[in-house]
Amino acid sequence: MPVNLAKESAANAAVDEQIHNDIHIIGVGSGSTIVPAVKRIAEIVHKNNLDLICVPTSLQARELILSNGLKLGSLAEYQELDLAIDGADEVDEQFNCIKGGGGCQTQEKLVAVCAKRFIVVADEKKWSPCLGTKWTKGIPIEVIPVAYKLTKKEIEKQLGGEVVVREGTEKLGPVLTDQGNFILDWKFDPVKIVNWFDVNRTLKLVPGVVETGLFVNMIYKGYFGNSDGKVEIRT
Ligand code: A5P
Repeated sequence: MPVNLAKESAANAAVDEQIHNDIHIIGVGSGSTIVPAVKRIAEIVHKNNLDLICVPTSLQARELILSNGLKLGSLAEYQELDLAIDGADEVDEQFNCIKGGGGCQTQEKLVAVCAKRFIVVADEKKWSPCLGTKWTKGIPIEVIPVAYKLTKKEIEKQLGGEVVVREGTEKLGPVLTDQGNFILDWKFDPVKIVNWFDVNRTLKLVPGVVETGLFVNMIYKGYFGNSDGKVEIRT
């Protein structure tokens, strides 16, 4: 797969600024932008002989950590992380973001809340004036399989819009998360949303919901790369 310069530049800029010898435990996100980030983390760790433990947000992240020769930790062992670095599907000007395009939002959120600083690395195209205008596939919501029809109906009743059960491309039927659950994608009308905190709370209270891909005002710093390799840093 060709290297995406926008993503790689964002990842390198973030890692170069954030990873140093005072950082001991980090969360490692999922997706495609995190791939060059982990590669860069490994270069710095090995060059400077740093003692760094990496807590994954998915099976993909776990494999990335191991294949880059980094030390693997888990949330069961570490709940206080110096920082977490992860991608995003869309980020707004209030630093709310949608995650879970790759279906990993539950562990991503657990890791993010354990981190003193949640760092986002993304292509500049993910930056948006209003959530839902660029990422139009909806907010990913992990649900317990037996509840998915009830949960779908309840979300549509309480919040409107349309809920779609995420299906695979290689296999018939719903996509399974790393926890063995289903994913619903809630498609909403962006102009109708005034308070993402309330929306997230409403979603979380629907029976059957495990976690949402709505990260409300959690970002500490965002690194957004352009196709020419320039990086915009937003705080
Ligand atoms: C994984 O479930 C997601 O939250 C990703 O972090 C997000 O989709 C960003 O992915 P890319 O880095 O591939 O754009």
